[in-house]
Order: sequence, then structure tokens, then C-alpha cells
Amino acid sequence: MVVDLGYGATPVTTVELHDRLRRVSPTVEVIGIEIDPARVAAGQAVQRALGRSGLSFRRGGFEIPTDGGVPVTVVRAFNVLRQYDESAIASAWARMASRLTPDGIVVDGTCDELGRISTWVTIDRTGPVSLTSSLRLRDLPTPGALAPRLPKALIHRNVPGERMYDYLRAWDTAWTYAAPLAAYGVRHRFLESVRSLDADGWPILGGPSRWRLGEVTVAWEAVAP
Ligand SMILES: C[S@@+](CC[C@H](N)C(=O)[O-])C[C@H]1O[C@@H](n2cnc3c(N)ncnc32)[C@H](O)[C@@H]1O
Repeated sequence: MVVDLGYGATPVTTVELHDRLRRVSPTVEVIGIEIDPARVAAGQAVQRALGRSGLSFRRGGFEIPTDGGVPVTVVRAFNVLRQYDESAIASAWARMASRLTPDGIVVDGTCDELGRISTWVTIDRTGPVSLTSSLRLRDLPTPGALAPRLPKALIHRNVPGERMYDYLRAWDTAWTYAAPLAAYGVRHRFLESVRSLDADGWPILGGPSRWRLGEVTVAWEAVAP
């Protein structure tokens, strides 16, 4: 069971998630959950029109209501927690994480309007695990350009004395030093900047196959407030 929490005015992300996941897992159930009753009604109207199996919409919040309390494998909460105060984040994460299967995750993410800059914290039943950033390389000024799109737990921490600040400064410095590779294309420069972060001891998770896509994950403890 997969949840798109706080899907918004139209259920487009929930329908797309269902579409994509069904291609790899034909029986997966996807639920769109919204706190706003008018948005739930809008989702239910779309589902009546589409008649898709394994897709549903309901009202709820961080308690993640499912039939019979069935645990959830993934909770995707994009651009939801950024509306909340920083002090509310830890309890919202814990509440959602308490609804997960043993190997389940919560993805608390933020993105710009066009999805060219996106970041998310992955949380499992033990707490936050990592921060991922996903950047469209073609028009990337510097990796630090992701700062305004950090999740709420980190967006106020890009200041001296915080690990989040050190991480972005280190990445921007690595990006500057990788400038000679720009002649071979932005992807080469980007890959070199991440390799250099990794070599300098930043706990970068995953490898070049994700970095090539502009996606870089760092262990939570390296950026945690
Ligand atoms: C900015 S919209 C994001 C929509 C969509 N996820 C996106 O990324 O474009 C935030 C949505 O979260 C919903 N929301 C806020 N708090 C919520 C909560 N605790 N549980 C479920 N939905 C919530 C709001 O009603 C709103 O529709």
C-alpha cells in the first residue's frame, strides 16, 4: 500500500503514481489522502470517472488512515510539511513512520513549480535516514541553488554553524573546482563535484548511476540540525 499524502487541488500526482507503480507491481494499492474535504471529493470524482482498480481517495492526515489499519510501504508527502512550523516536523514524521511496514519509508519532499529542483528526506521506522537532492543539470547555476527548496526540517539550517550549511558550501566549492570539466558538459562537472564530496568524506550514498541523473543522497547525520 502506497499513500500520496496531501496531493493537493487535483489528484494528478496520485493518478500518475498509481500508473507508474502498477507497471512494476500490478496489484499495488495507491491511496490519495487529503485533509481538505473538497480536495477529497475532487479525487473521488476523478476516480469515479477513471474507474481504476487499486486507486482510492480519502480524508485524513499524518495518522494515515487505511482500511483495517493496514500498514503502508511508502508515504509520499510532497510540499505538505513546508506549510508547517519547524517544531511540528519531528512529531509528524514519527506519526507517519508509525504507520509503516518494517521496510517502509516516508518521503518528505519539496520541489519548485516545474520540478527542476527537488529535495526530500527519507524516513523509516527508526527516524530520518538521508537527504536526497534531484537537480535538472541543464540549467543548474550551482548545487547550492537547491537551498530555497529544502524540506522544512532543513530550510532554516543553511546558516553558519549548521551541518546543512557546511554541506552546501562544500558542494559549491567542489563545483567551482570542477569548472574545467564544464568544457565536456555539465554532467561531467556535476559528477566530478559529487566524487570530490565523496572523496572528502561526506557520506554520499548510492553511486554514479544516480549522480548522472542529477540525484545525490547524503546520510542524514551529515546534514542533521
Ligand atoms: C501545496 S499543496 C501540495 C500538493 C501536492 N502534493 C504538490 O506537491 O503539488 C499541500 C496540500 O497538503 C494538504 N495538507 C496539509 N496538511 C495536511 C495533512 N496533515 N494531511 C493531509 N494533507 C495535508 C493541503 O490541503 C494541500 O492540499
